[in-house]
Amino acid sequence: MVDASAQAVGKREAGYRAADMVADGMVVGLGTGSTVFFAMERLAARIREGLVITGIPTSFQTAIRARGCGIPLATLNDYPVIDLAIDGADQVDPGFALIKGRGAAQTQEKCVAFAAKSLVIVADPSKLTRKLDAVVPIEVLSSAYVPVIRYLKTIGGVPVLREGIKKDGPVITDNGNMVIDCGFGTIGDPTALDIHLSSIPGVVTCGLFTTFADKTTVVVGDSNGCQVLS
Ligand code: 5RP
Repeated sequence: MVDASAQAVGKREAGYRAADMVADGMVVGLGTGSTVFFAMERLAARIREGLVITGIPTSFQTAIRARGCGIPLATLNDYPVIDLAIDGADQVDPGFALIKGRGAAQTQEKCVAFAAKSLVIVADPSKLTRKLDAVVPIEVLSSAYVPVIRYLKTIGGVPVLREGIKKDGPVITDNGNMVIDCGFGTIGDPTALDIHLSSIPGVVTCGLFTTFADKTTVVVGDSNGCQVLS
């Protein structure tokens, strides 16, 4: 059982530490989620002290929050190379393979991670795991969610179409697509599964991030401070 207030303290520690890794003039990828929001809170304070950065948001939610923080924004098309991206994760394994997408933003997050020279993952200790075993969020074209679900079952997955909190309809991503959360039990080979899922016609992006480990730093925050893993 995760202690929610201790978890929030850890997220803030990690977010603040990552924001302190940002240098003047950088183009900064801004992920999605509660831990990244702490990083933006700290970036806002540094901007008030004179820091100049350009943020590349990964979701409408992040863009709105970033504007509220006074972070100047641009797009990936304006800045196809990002100095440093800060993002959260749902699970992180010892080799820095990630599961992302609880916030349904994994498509933009993967594009930003790909474009970034370095990726800083901010997390509380509950996100660290020896083996990835959480459901994998898969963004899928609405015109193909039924065949994709059908196929996922044939490869041993347990797919569930993600619905809103009131269960009155599917979650629709910022890109106008649906999300399937697919359980695979313990994932033996995350890279192979990432490649496999990404190759299914109708799949836009899967939430396995397995190709960024070489440029990834993981900042894990708890009530005692931060551990920086690289
Ligand atoms: C959104 C994500 C988030 O980064 C991930 O869900 C972690 O969120 P939080 O920092 O709120 O725990 O992948 O698509």
